[in-house]
Amino acid sequence: MMELLASIGCHFRIPLKTMWLWISLVLVLQYSKTVLSDSNYLIGLGSYDITGPAADVNMMGYANTEQIASGIHFRLRARSFIVAEPQGKRVVFVNLDACMASQLVTIKVLERLKARYGNLYTEQNVAISGIHTHAGPGGYLQYVVYIVTSLGFVHQSFDALVDGIEKSIVQAHENLQPGSIFVNKGELLDAGVNRSPSAYLNNPASERSKYKYNVDKEMTLLKFVDDQWGPVGSFNWFATHGTSMSRTNSLISGDNKGAAARFMEDWFEQNSAKSDELGTDEIPRRVSSIISSIHNNHHELLELASSFQSSPGKPATRISSAARRVRSALRQADKPGFVSAFCQTNCGDVSPNVLGAFCIDTGVPCDFNHSTCGGKNELCYGRGPGYPDEFESTRIIGERQFNKAVDLFNTASEQLKGKIDYRHSYVDFSQLEVTIPKEGGGSEVVKTCPAAMGFAFAAGTTDGPGAFDFKQGDDKGNPFWRLVRNLLKAPDKKQVECHSPKPILLDTGEMKQPYDWAPSILPVQILRIGQLVILSVPGEFTTMSGRRLRDAVKTMLTSSGSGEFGSNTHVVIAGLTNTYSQYITSFEEYQIQRYEGASTLYGPHTLSAYIQEFQKLASALIKGQTVEPGPQPPDLLKKQISFLTPVVMDSTPAGVNFGDVSSDVPANSTFKRGSTVTVVFWSACPRNDLMTEGTFALVEILQGKDTWVPTYDDDDFCLRFKWSRPSKLSPRSQATIEWTIPPSASLGVYRIRHFGAAKRLMGSIQHFTGTSSAFVVA
Ligand SMILES: *[C@@H]1O[C@H](CO)[C@@H](O)[C@H](O)[C@H]1NC(C)=O
Ligand SMILES: *[C@@H]1O[C@H](CO)[C@@H](O)[C@H](O)[C@H]1NC(C)=O
Repeated sequence: MMELLASIGCHFRIPLKTMWLWISLVLVLQYSKTVLSDSNYLIGLGSYDITGPAADVNMMGYANTEQIASGIHFRLRARSFIVAEPQGKRVVFVNLDACMASQLVTIKVLERLKARYGNLYTEQNVAISGIHTHAGPGGYLQYVVYIVTSLGFVHQSFDALVDGIEKSIVQAHENLQPGSIFVNKGELLDAGVNRSPSAYLNNPASERSKYKYNVDKEMTLLKFVDDQWGPVGSFNWFATHGTSMSRTNSLISGDNKGAAARFMEDWFEQNSAKSDELGTDEIPRRVSSIISSIHNNHHELLELASSFQSSPGKPATRISSAARRVRSALRQADKPGFVSAFCQTNCGDVSPNVLGAFCIDTGVPCDFNHSTCGGKNELCYGRGPGYPDEFESTRIIGERQFNKAVDLFNTASEQLKGKIDYRHSYVDFSQLEVTIPKEGGGSEVVKTCPAAMGFAFAAGTTDGPGAFDFKQGDDKGNPFWRLVRNLLKAPDKKQVECHSPKPILLDTGEMKQPYDWAPSILPVQILRIGQLVILSVPGEFTTMSGRRLRDAVKTMLTSSGSGEFGSNTHVVIAGLTNTYSQYITSFEEYQIQRYEGASTLYGPHTLSAYIQEFQKLASALIKGQTVEPGPQPPDLLKKQISFLTPVVMDSTPAGVNFGDVSSDVPANSTFKRGSTVTVVFWSACPRNDLMTEGTFALVEILQGKDTWVPTYDDDDFCLRFKWSRPSKLSPRSQATIEWTIPPSASLGVYRIRHFGAAKRLMGSIQHFTGTSSAFVVA
């Protein structure tokens, strides 16, 4: 603009009035550029492997001591977005394929970000959220109650998370470029049911009548469009538990949300490969599709296959080039990979086991109020749509979310516009005064209580019933467990009354040995991106609790009279974010004491406390005021105790190498699509090397006469890596790799490879690889 004026000034003498017209025209153009341009923000996305230890480690979620990881269904990832105003504020949102966020992980990630970027990313503007898969390694939380079943703290689980989150944020930071964000919403009807409807029914009828369903059916999706690269990713929020995989599953899995993310990223990469480069109609598979010479003579293929026998296991370098990830093969080197995250929201009482809960002995529906069968909880299980196949249920619930997300992605047109902002506060929930409306008018002050869990907590849920004789909807408790409880910590009268009608099983908030059993200081946070507001909550809100919180915040924002928030204000809850404190039910649901009510830690007014604190944040956001930072949560890393023994050594029988095939594909065999190929290798403990951003298992296709191209790895839904020992203390182990040939697989010659790392007694870690005989897919 200065240049323009100068040149006008130099070459012409123009009347002042015309000059002003020019200036206003230029100003209007400048203004409309900023308002109408697509690139009102800087956006960057990132993603990194957080799979963690695939053996020996207890899985987080079901609190089942016998659910120990022994292989991989598909990998876990941390997916991040950063949105920044070009000269202003920024926010970071990280979605973890993990059961929940952990206070300690959050603290350590923030320390690393501070070391790297100074004060650019702090607890104020970074949110780290878990999808609630119950099939990831545990032991990464700091409070005792969450690491009892994992035999204490597991450093490998913790490190994989901290490293992966940091790397995904660094990627997002380095990808920051001008771009825009679109928001879209839609209903998905068949991916969640209420698993505690008897508690839901205790909410006031007048409130329930405002809603068509007893769970939230809405998905809210953000579509990220880079000015240079076009669409680079999407994040969505939808409420359903990560419990499609059962409490007996031992393969690491992102459950239905992780699956949906994998499907959507693959869908996008394949579609963009289709339109950008290949120009063919049918691209069955990103890599096999680039194979130019398609062999199609079956006899010729068999002949070719028979010349590739299994090769003995041999030493390999750390990341063998052959083990490079399938997914990087088709990507343009400089283009950021497409990142699609399926985030969790108010899933507290929402089960993906949509067929309902049935007794496994009789097949009849479980008791409505208590989820029992003949008075006992152990036999009552929810059924997913793929029942009895949990992998199928995971796929179907994942696919339903994926399909809805693609719809919303393709039709998103409402652009996010306006300020980036945030507010964050730490709040001590153990003794918070909460002002609530009084029946018949006025208000009263009530209090939250130090954390405690009720008897129905131990009953578990229909997604994973507990092992002992507990039942949901229990407001009395049983004498035996009362005795056990008293050995740990007997709650005093004040605590008992504060939690009433919850009968206290574990008085976790008052148990401090060897260190804190439960959190009392919790983070609450609001992130704002234009007309979208994200509420970061450190737990699992039930359906009605989530509705009340969202409504309270939205009402506050839109009725403020500031004019900043109109009727198009979108409020989403990011569940299980920044730390974990179990459940949050409504006051009325709490009275019923189902699992969710028994797990609402701070007493009957927990939800009201959240609403009060979020209203404070919202008010500060509108008024441009700061909020009190609040008390720092403790960093208990140095106090952590671990009972999980390290890998002592790996060995093989005499004359056998690591990586040798123990059970090969049958000679000269041909497999049809849909059938399963199984190969067993002599292996070693996967904890020796997590193969982060690598793979333990690979399917390769033959290109030409002697070039093998990776086509599927252990991040693929169709490939399962199962690891086993003959007995618990045996140094010997085997890896079973199962490939169910997808309908889209190309015709051709294939082989299966295994990658691992073995530990010698007293010695170093040695990587190895092994290869099956070739076979034909026809
Ligand atoms: C496999 O096929 C090859 C070539 O077609 C043949 O030479 C070989 O004998 C066959 N092996 C078996 C076990 O059938
Ligand atoms: C569940 O409990 C409520 C309240 O006690 C009772 O009215 C209702 O009949 C019970 N429902 C069933 C199916 O047992």
